[in-house]
Amino acid sequence: MDLSIKYLGYTLKNPIIVGSSGLTNSVDKIKKLEANNAGAVVLKSLFEEQIISQATQEATDYMYPEAYDYVKEYSKSFSIDRYLKLIETARKEVKIPVIASINARSNGDWVDFAKRVESAGSHGIELNVSILPTDEKMTCKDVEQIHLKILENVKKQISIPISVKISSYSSGLSNLVQQIAWSKTVESIVMFNRFYNPDIDINKMEVTVSNVFSSAEDLMPSLRWIAMLAEKYKSTSFVASTGVYTGEDAIKQILVGADAVQVVSAIYKHGEGYIGTILNQIKDWMKAKKFHSITDFKGKMSLSKQVNQNVFERVQFMKYYGNVE
Ligand SMILES: Cc1cc2nc3c(=O)[nH]c(=O)nc-3n(C[C@H](O)[C@H](O)[C@H](O)COP(=O)(O)O)c2cc1C
Repeated sequence: MDLSIKYLGYTLKNPIIVGSSGLTNSVDKIKKLEANNAGAVVLKSLFEEQIISQATQEATDYMYPEAYDYVKEYSKSFSIDRYLKLIETARKEVKIPVIASINARSNGDWVDFAKRVESAGSHGIELNVSILPTDEKMTCKDVEQIHLKILENVKKQISIPISVKISSYSSGLSNLVQQIAWSKTVESIVMFNRFYNPDIDINKMEVTVSNVFSSAEDLMPSLRWIAMLAEKYKSTSFVASTGVYTGEDAIKQILVGADAVQVVSAIYKHGEGYIGTILNQIKDWMKAKKFHSITDFKGKMSLSKQVNQNVFERVQFMKYYGNVE
């Protein structure tokens, strides 16, 4: 049975990519993930604020005070030099693709840094474009333009493959994905980034951090969008991220057209060995269905394959869909 896939021009032994997180912030952790059969890893992100602040030492002019404090604290343990060293060493010590990650929210001077990531030997760059559209002066078009400009500028700097991780707040999604795909700046689109969400402690009357980890129900937004979009832009890979907990989840995403899935929370909860569990679940299902390779079933359940073309587009609950009165 062949679980291999093509991603960013590389052959991955299977479609399970460990997503950007603390799981990938050291060479030892990456080696363990490789030993447990991860198809590829995306490194913990560097933040554009961090790149700018370390490059210019003028962080206070550039950032909000809260962002500055956060970045200063984060940078202490995760400097740019350490990041480049991580890429270099990981490249020497593991065989699976190692993809760097930069967390960006503007088209600033930080884009030059992409060259250093390339020189350090990264197989590719995943750009996590994180814009929460809180500024009422910012239109959908503005948000979309930031995405496109970032990608265009980074593309000019480097020749390694680029992937963009977008969020579901990225504005008119279908149109944005079309513009990204047509711009030919990226090889892959990762749907979706999961934002940190605030919560309220009603006893302490304080704002707190809500669940850091996703839950299995979080799978559905990317399932819907990948089902509708992946088949339209065949030269761009689509990767499902958020809520992939089981082999069944990964199979669903591939059935609607994903090339690969990223897994983070499930590995935090169950350990690296859990990659093997997911892979065994995929293999068992493929055996039962007599599929020999991932391409045998990729996209078989995408939008155009549905008799009722409404199934992925409908947003209102009706008796027929929700089966609840
Ligand atoms: C502890 C933790 C740290 C993360 N750090 C990053 C990061 O640095 N950059 C990034 O793009 N995503 C980061 N993420 C988001 C994950 O890459 C992923 O998109 C998200 O967790 C959804 O996938 P999951 O449902 O498999 O957890 C982080 C997630 C967690 C739980």
